[in-house]
Amino acid sequence: MSSAPAVDSQLLCQLEDVKKSYPMGDLLVQALKGVSVGITAGEFTAFAGPSGSGKSTILNLIGCLDRPSSGRVLLEGKDVATLGDAELGDLRARRIGFIFQSFNLIPVLTAYENVELALRLAGAPEKGQREVVQEALRSVGLADYMTRRPAQLSGGQQQRVAIARALVKKPALIIADEPTANLDSKNGAAILDLMKTMNAENRTTFLFSTHDAMVMERARRIIRLADGEIVSDDAAGPAAAGA
Ligand SMILES: Nc1ncnc2c1ncn2[C@@H]1O[C@H](COP(=O)(O)OP(=O)(O)OP(=O)(O)O)[C@@H](O)[C@H]1O
Ligand SMILES: [Mg+2]
Repeated sequence: MSSAPAVDSQLLCQLEDVKKSYPMGDLLVQALKGVSVGITAGEFTAFAGPSGSGKSTILNLIGCLDRPSSGRVLLEGKDVATLGDAELGDLRARRIGFIFQSFNLIPVLTAYENVELALRLAGAPEKGQREVVQEALRSVGLADYMTRRPAQLSGGQQQRVAIARALVKKPALIIADEPTANLDSKNGAAILDLMKTMNAENRTTFLFSTHDAMVMERARRIIRLADGEIVSDDAAGPAAAGA
């Protein structure tokens, strides 16, 4: 690859011929085989594809939880390979929110404290924190559940806490790896609708992965992966033009 493609500063995130392989004994598993894609601020985009197609791998690279084997990952025009671990950690804490399939809340903390911790880690000023945390929990419908611990909440309620935790620091990007996989279809639909409202109200970019057709149909753009490659991307289609 001699000619590096130009950086498009309009893009929130850009992957350029990204490959990722994992060592497995003597073998290398090629999880991504050269993926190029651009994500614009404000998108509500699903990565779809069968198990093992590379959805989590791509989200982990975009979220700076991992680094590519080759190719470039650019966030807000910055090549993440040029950032040290401290800078990457800072970027993750301030600019990216994560929502996981298994909610990943801290079990000994209340809903309020789980959200508050994320705000602290993002370096938000002490002043006004209580209102910001309360407002985040209110916005996901949990005004009456702030003092409950995760074990005292339903799966759908735990995922709402996770959404509040991701949103509270007002990140540019929220990454959600199969956010509805542990929820029944009614709660899954409600979580997706909530994410979509947050996307519309705050212009927060959402990238999520799913196997679920019901979740997929709520996406504005669907990028399909198979065997470590993008096989379709409806970004050019009418559905991508916005609501
Ligand atoms: N840490 C790892 N070590 C070795 N191989 C890995 C590792 N993580 C992922 N892989 C392999 O990389 C490929 C892509 O995995 P990935 O987790 O991205 O798939 P996925 O699309 O998220 O699948 P699922 O729908 O099951 O979550 C798979 O073949 C997987 O076995
Ligand atoms: Mg996965």
